[in-house]
Amino acid sequence: MSRGVEGVLRFLESYSWPHSPGAVEEIEVEGKKLPRFVGEFWTAKQRQAHSIHEISYRACFKPQLPRFFIELLTEPGDTVYDPFCGRGTTAVEAALLGRRVIANDANPLSRVFLTPRLAVPEISEVERRLKGLPVDYGARAELDLSMFYHPRTEAEIVSLRSYLRDRSRQGLEDHVDSWIRMVATNRLTGHSRGFFSVYTLPPNQAVSPSKQREINEKLGQVPEYRDTKALIMRKSRQLLRDLRPEEAEALRKAAKEAIIISKDARETSEIPSDSVHLTVTSPPFLDVVQYHEDNWLRCWFNDIEKELVASAITLTGSLLEWRRFMEEVFGELYRVTRPGGWVAFEVGEVRGGKVFLEDTVLPIGIRSGFRAVAVLINRQRFTKTSRIWGVENQLKGTNTNRIVLLRKEG
Ligand SMILES: C[S@@+](CC[C@H](N)C(=O)[O-])C[C@H]1O[C@@H](n2cnc3c(N)ncnc32)[C@H](O)[C@@H]1O
Repeated sequence: MSRGVEGVLRFLESYSWPHSPGAVEEIEVEGKKLPRFVGEFWTAKQRQAHSIHEISYRACFKPQLPRFFIELLTEPGDTVYDPFCGRGTTAVEAALLGRRVIANDANPLSRVFLTPRLAVPEISEVERRLKGLPVDYGARAELDLSMFYHPRTEAEIVSLRSYLRDRSRQGLEDHVDSWIRMVATNRLTGHSRGFFSVYTLPPNQAVSPSKQREINEKLGQVPEYRDTKALIMRKSRQLLRDLRPEEAEALRKAAKEAIIISKDARETSEIPSDSVHLTVTSPPFLDVVQYHEDNWLRCWFNDIEKELVASAITLTGSLLEWRRFMEEVFGELYRVTRPGGWVAFEVGEVRGGKVFLEDTVLPIGIRSGFRAVAVLINRQRFTKTSRIWGVENQLKGTNTNRIVLLRKEG
């Protein structure tokens, strides 16, 4: 439900921990005071995340985070945006809740992950399509993938890749093909028998061929055959298991109207000015994540040049560079946000909890024209190691999300 600033502040106060020291504090930014709330605004257990989110992506956030802000600050039919959408957590959650969706990410793989999880197929359509897919058991990749795959598995992957490439080039790739592409991209490598590869690192961190050879030697393993079609079916069933008919309907409706772009968040001319009710996002952090190196095999499968990913993604080594980048991002966010609209900007704790990026983001947001409304720190009160959150937990930044909440005055 959407509320004004006062209503939102009252709500956040009621959610913070009344008897914990420092749970509600006043902080000063650019000569203005604003509250900082510490509380358990959402938890993993509170409401189980929907199965459709179960796609691995580096540095993704939990669906409970965008859900909290979407429910608090928007109504069905409002537009929700994420300029750094990654696997599309905000977009999928917004669509499930009947909101319109705008999503952007400089990494072209983002679109591969997001689009088919809006235009969801029926499981029977996936099954039928997979059954009809031709496999050439003599097919080999143009690069050596023998350290990851059994030759028969490799032939199935290469055949699927050729099929998808042809369909895409002929303009025939439909929602079922895109779904299969998305699931296969996520099954390429991983650390269990549910993946196409021999045992390796988790799926969003594909290792290099030479590193994989080392892993194989160390573990004394050789790739066994994996039935790729069966694994795609299994993962499809898992992703769709929670999806009720009305949710499938909501996702498909959002898919028809969605704006999904693969650009630098600083220049998104496809998004009309004053059109966004709420942005929920987490930007690339200071700590450098090599998305393109992690994704080389996923890029190969999807015919995306990994150098393209490398050049598109912003890596900032210093706080100064990060600040300059954010100034331009906020300029664009101000343009696309409608008067009365909100921005919930999640900034992680980086470098061992010594840099709090909200201190950097708040002045930038204010100078871009936004009103700073609050800082929220979501913590889980009880963890396995400590009964209450204490200094140590605070410093380590475990189970914590730090969110800056801003509003464009109406
Ligand atoms: C912390 S991740 C966001 C993850 C997302 N919240 C999710 O749940 O998957 C940051 C994202 O920013 C993207 N990115 C980096 N530089 C960018 C830029 N200049 N413009 C748009 N996206 C960028 C990266 O590709 C990455 O997906």
